[in-house]
Amino acid sequence: MGTHVSNILCVDDEINVLNSLERLLATESVKIIKCANPFDAITVLEKTPISVIISDNYMPFMKGLELLQKARELQPDTFRILITAYADFDTAIDAINKGEVYRFVAKPWNNDDLVNMVHEAVQRYDLAQAMKHADEAALLSLAQAIELKDKYTKGHCDRVAEYALKIADAMELSDEWKKNIRHGSWLHDCGKIGVPESILNFNGPLSEDNKRVVEKHPRWGAELAQLAQLPRPIANIITYHHEKYDGTGYPNRLKNEAIPLEARIVAIADAYDAMTTDRPYRKKISKKEALNMLHEEKGKAFDPDIIDTFLEIMHKEK
Ligand SMILES: [Fe+2]
Ligand SMILES: [Fe+2]
Repeated sequence: MGTHVSNILCVDDEINVLNSLERLLATESVKIIKCANPFDAITVLEKTPISVIISDNYMPFMKGLELLQKARELQPDTFRILITAYADFDTAIDAINKGEVYRFVAKPWNNDDLVNMVHEAVQRYDLAQAMKHADEAALLSLAQAIELKDKYTKGHCDRVAEYALKIADAMELSDEWKKNIRHGSWLHDCGKIGVPESILNFNGPLSEDNKRVVEKHPRWGAELAQLAQLPRPIANIITYHHEKYDGTGYPNRLKNEAIPLEARIVAIADAYDAMTTDRPYRKKISKKEALNMLHEEKGKAFDPDIIDTFLEIMHKEK
């Protein structure tokens, strides 16, 4: 974001491969560091923060997998990608299952897939770092970058925070609670980093398959939250903002008070904003209609007490 530059470390003994990775992956905000042998790569890892490391598996002196294990010790948060031949599939899958490697790339690779995978990893890394350092400016700008992917939700995370904080105010929650609710609202959809843009911006009702992909975003977000060691309430908002009070939501079908309070609050703010803005598959409805719909879902999708609080706030404002 802005002047921030992310580093990608590419390691391969073939200079042609390094050059083509650089051509594919370098952007204004992504710098490629090329190393033709694993020892140079280790030196780089010792002093430079690396968002993503991409290493070939077959190199003289050291296997890529071994290098990635070293990378994990030196910079545990770096996303590790292994380039491998078809013959090594089992090794690569094993490495992913053990958490040693984030993804693998089979040679010959598809350029678009590779670029998407790597840039997504960079975005995840940056987000995790910003969360870890609780850097408000960085958090908001990343949340906005996620929104840009989904052009219909521009401003969504800001407005969700605004509505959720109104509820928190009315409930007289502490400043600490409010801070977590603000950050959680900004980040509630951060798992959408993993949802392809073609699905997010699809013009019409989604197929069942695509719906299932979209519905994974709370789980993907939860993984990110864990990676960033986020405070519990923020992680709860990301993970549970699509749970429903009557137990029919996702991902865990939690019911009533089993859904953390912060997630019950943000769920209402999120739904209200979704109804009152245009989405690819439907037009917005009026504020009055939206409030009526929330009222109808009282005790079904939403916590009845928090619905009452929100309706009271919105009626007072009119
Ligand atoms: Fe969501
Ligand atoms: Fe949302």
